[in-house]
Amino acid sequence: MAKLLYIETVGCQMNVLDSELVAAGLARAGYQPTENRHKADVILFNTCSVRQHAEDKVYSALGRLKHLKDRHPDRIIGVIGCMAQNDQGLIFRRAPHVDLVVGPGRLGRLPELLDLVAAGAGPQMEVSLDRGSATKLSVAESFQSRIPSERDQSQQPSNQAMVRIMFGCNKFCTYCIVPSVRGPEQSRSVDEIEAEVRQLADQGCLEITLLGQTVNSYKHPAGERTYRLSDLLYRLNDIAGPRRLKFVTNYPGHMTDDLIEAVRDLPKVSHYLHVPAQSGSDRILKRMKRAYSAGAYREMLERIRQAIPDAAITSDFIVGFCGETEEDFQQTIDLVSEARFKNSFIFKYSTRPGTASAEKYVDDVPYDVKQRRNNELLAIQNAISLEDNQPLVGRTLEILVEGPSKTSRKHAESGPVVQLVGRTSRDRIVVFDGDRHLSGQIIPVEIEKVSQFTLFGKQL
Ligand code: 5AD
Ligand code: SF4
Repeated sequence: MAKLLYIETVGCQMNVLDSELVAAGLARAGYQPTENRHKADVILFNTCSVRQHAEDKVYSALGRLKHLKDRHPDRIIGVIGCMAQNDQGLIFRRAPHVDLVVGPGRLGRLPELLDLVAAGAGPQMEVSLDRGSATKLSVAESFQSRIPSERDQSQQPSNQAMVRIMFGCNKFCTYCIVPSVRGPEQSRSVDEIEAEVRQLADQGCLEITLLGQTVNSYKHPAGERTYRLSDLLYRLNDIAGPRRLKFVTNYPGHMTDDLIEAVRDLPKVSHYLHVPAQSGSDRILKRMKRAYSAGAYREMLERIRQAIPDAAITSDFIVGFCGETEEDFQQTIDLVSEARFKNSFIFKYSTRPGTASAEKYVDDVPYDVKQRRNNELLAIQNAISLEDNQPLVGRTLEILVEGPSKTSRKHAESGPVVQLVGRTSRDRIVVFDGDRHLSGQIIPVEIEKVSQFTLFGKQL
């Protein structure tokens, strides 16, 4: 009988992709996915270390599994992803019933490691990342390069797919744990990426999202030249099949004109750009070691808007960073008010041991002040999002249908017509009623009503 695998994923799209790849890899080793962790033979948590809260939640969830493990010692519990890399052996000490700890660069070894645990070899840990040592993590030996053969086993619908084009980050923003858990920046080769996209196209994939921590710093030497993200987009745009190409996450300093022009000129590339600003205060940006000023960020916005007037731009902000005064925060409010982002993800600063800000600065903004600043900034952003969605009422937009909405799944709607959810090419979420078989298609929908986060429409 097939063994059952349960994976719970938190964190960014990198993790969502990693979980997809892990599920696909383990499907080949005879594991079937289940949504019921209590029935699963293997329970994996794919984790995030960016904020303390996400880590705390995983430790609580692990704690709650202690009973299950006592009753069923043969069940395997694993922690994979960033927290595995970050906490390493500490995980076994805090949760001794955990069998497996595997970092993001070593996920390819999971099938073997699971076999070892099942064979009674005891707890297994695989976390080497080798930042700074002579042996750099090679892309070829990481899981990423095996995507094409693995992914076709995947249970995921194939009309949307994520493709990792680079691994790791070299920026070392002072608040961020990512460079130490995901390792140094490494770009995959254009040929490898192109081959993967062709394979996804053959499978009927309509939307491809290219992933990288600083995706627009992508560069890969090939013969005489070095390929940039814009060059890669030109190559991928020519592949028949996919209708939309997106890429996340951008670093403001690498938003060069060649890239903006590629987004403007290539028909398949969505006019959607996620470019985190993090703060509107130069003093704070400097402390964060973001290598740009608020003025340079504004200038970049201007360049994008000049070239692509209808671009949907989104951002991330951290409020309550060490030493952030009311005046600094006001400058962030000013930036958000002016920039008219489609939406912003706002986070309260969470100090991460091992990062430069944890070592150099005092986390001196009280929690309730962080919370207030978070609410205030969010209210301003939400008002802007709502205002900018209003003119869409009455318009007909092309929607890539993702499938039945959460509400429809919750009510277990079973007829042919259900509430569906999809996205516009500018990444706006649209909800409407339609036949469930429309999933995966691009169809016109007329917008009837909007909220700050969602457009509501009817199928034409
Ligand atoms: N505290 C709060 N937010 C953080 N982010 C990264 N590190 C931290 C931290 N220590 C946010 C940044 C980043 C997003 C993915 O998470 O805004 O862009
Ligand atoms: Fe973290 Fe900065 Fe790298 Fe983004 S660019 S992953 S915030 S270090």
